[in-house]
Amino acid sequence: MFGKTCIAPSILSADFMNLGADVRLVSEGGADWIHVDVMDGHFVPNLTIGPAHVKALKKITDVPLDVHLMIDNPEVQVSWYLEAGADSVTIHCEATDDAAALIDAIHAAGAKAGVSINPETDTSVLAGLVDKCDLVLMMSVHPGFGGQSFIESTPERITQVVELCKAADANPIIEVDGGINAKTAPLVVARGADLLVAGSAVFKAADPVAAMAQIRGAHE
Ligand code: DX5
Ligand code: ZN
Repeated sequence: MFGKTCIAPSILSADFMNLGADVRLVSEGGADWIHVDVMDGHFVPNLTIGPAHVKALKKITDVPLDVHLMIDNPEVQVSWYLEAGADSVTIHCEATDDAAALIDAIHAAGAKAGVSINPETDTSVLAGLVDKCDLVLMMSVHPGFGGQSFIESTPERITQVVELCKAADANPIIEVDGGINAKTAPLVVARGADLLVAGSAVFKAADPVAAMAQIRGAHE
C-alpha cells in the first residue's frame, strides 16, 4: 500500500488476432504485469480464454502473468493455470467456500495468490484472508466485460480493505480492476491501490504505451 503504482494491462481488450504483438508492445512499454481475464460463461456471462493461452503467453513475455479467474469451481481448475505458468492466480470469494485452501494450493505451486470480491460483496469477507494472500483484487465494475464505467463506491471500499489489512497487520498488494483510466486512477491510488488493471484505456488507445504512462502518472 502506498508504494510505487504498478500497471497491469488487461488483454481482454487487446486484438485477439494480433495478441502476441499487443502483449509484446505493452511488455516492452513498461507493463508491470499482464492481466489475463479467464471467464467461464457460468460465474460471469462471458467466455474468454483458458490455460492454453496462458502457456502460449508465457513463451513470449517475461512480464509476470496475473491470472484473474472469474470461474465457478476454482478448486478443480486452479491447477490448470498454475501448470500453464501463471505467476499469480486470483480467485473470487463468491466462487468458493474455502478461499484459504485455494490460497494454500496456489502458494504450494510457487505462485502469488490473490482473492477478489465483486462490487456488491461485503468487504468483511476478506477478514481472515488478507494476512494469507499476496494480493486483494477489488472489482470496480461488475465482472464479465471490458469497457464498463468505474463504480463510484470503489474508493470507499478500498479504504475499508486497507483498514482490514491494518487490523490484521497484513500488507497485500491492493489491485483494482474495471473502468480504470487517467481520470479514475487517482481516486483509487489516493486510497492505497498499488496495482491498476486497465483494459480498454490501454488497448483501445491510439498509443497503448503512452496510455499506460498516463494512467500510472495521473496521480503524480
Ligand atoms: C472485467 C475484467 C477486467 C477488464 C477491465 O470483468 O476483470 O480485467 O478487462 O476492462 P476495462 O479496463 O476496460 O474496464
Ligand atoms: Zn480482470
